[in-house]
Amino acid sequence: MVSAAGKICLVTGATSGTGYVTALELAWSGATVVVLARNAQKAARTRDEIIATTGNTHVDTLICDLSEMAQVRHAAEEFKERFRTLDILINNAGGVVKPPRRTSEGLEAMFAGNYLGHFFLTELLLDELKASGNARVINVSSIAHRTAKIDFESIHPNASHWGGYGQSKLAQILFTYELADRLKGDGVTVNALHPGAVKSGFTAEFRTGLSGVIVALSDALIGISPEEGASTILYLAVSSEVTGTTGRYFVKSKEKTSSRRSRDIALRRRLWRESQDILREVGVGELS
Ligand SMILES: NC(=O)c1ccc[n+]([C@@H]2O[C@H](COP(=O)([O-])OP(=O)(O)OC[C@H]3O[C@@H](n4cnc5c(N)ncnc54)[C@H](OP(=O)(O)O)[C@@H]3O)[C@@H](O)[C@H]2O)c1
Repeated sequence: MVSAAGKICLVTGATSGTGYVTALELAWSGATVVVLARNAQKAARTRDEIIATTGNTHVDTLICDLSEMAQVRHAAEEFKERFRTLDILINNAGGVVKPPRRTSEGLEAMFAGNYLGHFFLTELLLDELKASGNARVINVSSIAHRTAKIDFESIHPNASHWGGYGQSKLAQILFTYELADRLKGDGVTVNALHPGAVKSGFTAEFRTGLSGVIVALSDALIGISPEEGASTILYLAVSSEVTGTTGRYFVKSKEKTSSRRSRDIALRRRLWRESQDILREVGVGELS
């Protein structure tokens, strides 16, 4: 059982898998939990289930497809109308989009949904995070970042589903390290993690082809439950062992070294600038 009593927590992708378990555990411990989901029915069902299971009525929903930047801005505005502070932001939503596609705003869907939407959401909620005085941002990345690179020439088109997925997860770690540096002294820590090979909605996506065989084998040999997958997220969200720890990458609740590329300072600064440029091009406004 974790303790986040009295904290305000926002969990993206809380309708299934590790996000659901994370939201449930935080609610059990007495936190106010905001479930951010792209599907209104699933969001309502998740909220009702969490309330019925835990008896904690402080569970709220925000509807937002994180791959659509106008929706992200709207969700952040709604959050600000309801809450003045944010103590724990868990950027968990994500997955593989197969075949790769563009969003209505012309962005590659995995880069947008797994990374850029979280980048934008976090930036929009910085004042509320700072107002907490002791906030934690947790970015759920993946071991898939290890072999990935950022292809600035073709962030939008043509990424293969695995290539695009790895790129989005590498972007999340680069973002983690850059944001952690920018927020030093502001009372906000930022860390990333790989949850393990979790048997969840993520692996259920792969039922055919070579990826289906690989994922089925991985599930059978090393697959873990969403509860086990959520344990590193919850550790980073509430454990006193990581109070003040920032700009780190964790696997199985232990600090690990992420890929060499993810630690490239010039790359992460370029990604930050390019992310701002993309948001400007999409027309959702300026960021500091
Ligand atoms: N499972 C693994 O083996 C594994 C390994 C490494 C990393 N991860 C990462 O762990 C995180 C959680 O995955 P999981 O295993 O729990 O998978 P999951 O059961 O498929 O859950 C993914 C969640 O993200 C939501 N989501 C996806 N794209 C979204 C978008 N554009 N906007 C809003 N919500 C969106 C999904 O919503 P819907 O219910 O609407 O689909 C769902 O709630 C993901 O970031 C994933 O990349 C998973």
